[in-house]
Amino acid sequence: MTGIAYEDFLDLGYDPADDELVCRFYVEPADGIDAEGAAARVASESSNGTWAELQADASIRDLSAMAFDIEPATAGSRKGYEVAVAYPAALFDPGNMPQILSCIAGNILGMKAVDRIRLRDCDWPASLTEGFVGPRFGSSVREEFFDAGDRPITATVPKPKVGLSTDDHAEIGYEAWTGGIDLLKDDENLTDQAFNPFQDRLAASFDARDRAESETGEPKSYLINVTADANTMLDRVDAVAAAGGEYVMVDVVTCGWAAVEAVRERAAHHDMAIHAHRAMHAAFDRHPDHGVSMRVIAQVARLCGVDQIHTGTAGLGKMANEDTLGINDWLRSDLHGLTDVLPVASGGLHPGLMPDLIDALGTNVCVQAGGGIHGHPDGTHAGAKALRAAIDAAVAGEDLTDRAENVPELRTAIDEWGTETPR
Ligand code: 6PG
Ligand code: MG
Repeated sequence: MTGIAYEDFLDLGYDPADDELVCRFYVEPADGIDAEGAAARVASESSNGTWAELQADASIRDLSAMAFDIEPATAGSRKGYEVAVAYPAALFDPGNMPQILSCIAGNILGMKAVDRIRLRDCDWPASLTEGFVGPRFGSSVREEFFDAGDRPITATVPKPKVGLSTDDHAEIGYEAWTGGIDLLKDDENLTDQAFNPFQDRLAASFDARDRAESETGEPKSYLINVTADANTMLDRVDAVAAAGGEYVMVDVVTCGWAAVEAVRERAAHHDMAIHAHRAMHAAFDRHPDHGVSMRVIAQVARLCGVDQIHTGTAGLGKMANEDTLGINDWLRSDLHGLTDVLPVASGGLHPGLMPDLIDALGTNVCVQAGGGIHGHPDGTHAGAKALRAAIDAAVAGEDLTDRAENVPELRTAIDEWGTETPR
């Protein structure tokens, strides 16, 4: 038997093994606790220690996490420490994301011993990633479902986001698709309400999609929101497959990662892709000194197998404090052979921003615009044409004002919004 106390979870000379999960936290110790004490408590509470010294068989230490690095760090205007913690592979239940998060982003977020704590980043070892299938398509959706060549694919959410009738919703989809947009997209809070029931919307939208495809000769698709309790969600995935859909959309944070893993399995059965909406992510990631970063949420989403996820607009749109470039790089980087994830840029985008957006993010993205299409002075169809023309011009390296000479809808959009960053 051996005693296990907080100090056993700190070793500044420790060198993590290749199969260990390394997590980096921003930590501000509470009054009366020093950086070492806070770091040790993080490793302890997130693995197998507690406040009291325990007596246990020495082998229990094989499941203990170890805090091994402490550096001064800032978060916005605040000062604290970056603490690195290594977790042994055997601590985790392979492929069980809720269990992993209950360790590394669980009780520690509420400990009195820290005033602030944020999980900033994880280095995922093969020992953990091999428990997950990852995305089925990732950025290959651009070729698998569309003939996008070297341009971003495009999506639009009809606005108002809830309240439109089924017929109006499908008609807006038709206008956007025929104007040159690839994907109609439901918003996060549209599922199966009386004003626009799921089954009716499914039928009407795919009918409009088929008409748009035959008129334009371009493939079109629809991100229909299947979010619900887990069993209903799986039924909805089946219904979308039966209607000929290529994708489902899931509110991944609000429905939970276990449900996302279940949808991933069912979608694979139908050879369908998953669009991840991140509503509620800001509850975890908005304040830079506490919570869980969007970078980690995106990592978790990739492991659980989503094909595309919103990661912001690198500050060009209406959202603040975005690490879009860092997250997008991570989503495209090698992760022990798992497929990549297509980043979705969304929030305040309009045609005049396309050159800077594509310059910043490249073309291997999905561009999603609501107001920047439906707010066009001449309506949705004109707005869709303007956005598509702006993207095509930006990809070709052509000045937007030159392209606008032949595309009056783009001229109108530029006159309306210029290159403003909306707020
Ligand atoms: C989504 C987002 C969505 C997005 C707006 C952007 O579902 O993709 O929640 O609502 O933020 O569609 O709208 P604007 O382009 O009008 O900012
Ligand atoms: Mg939305």
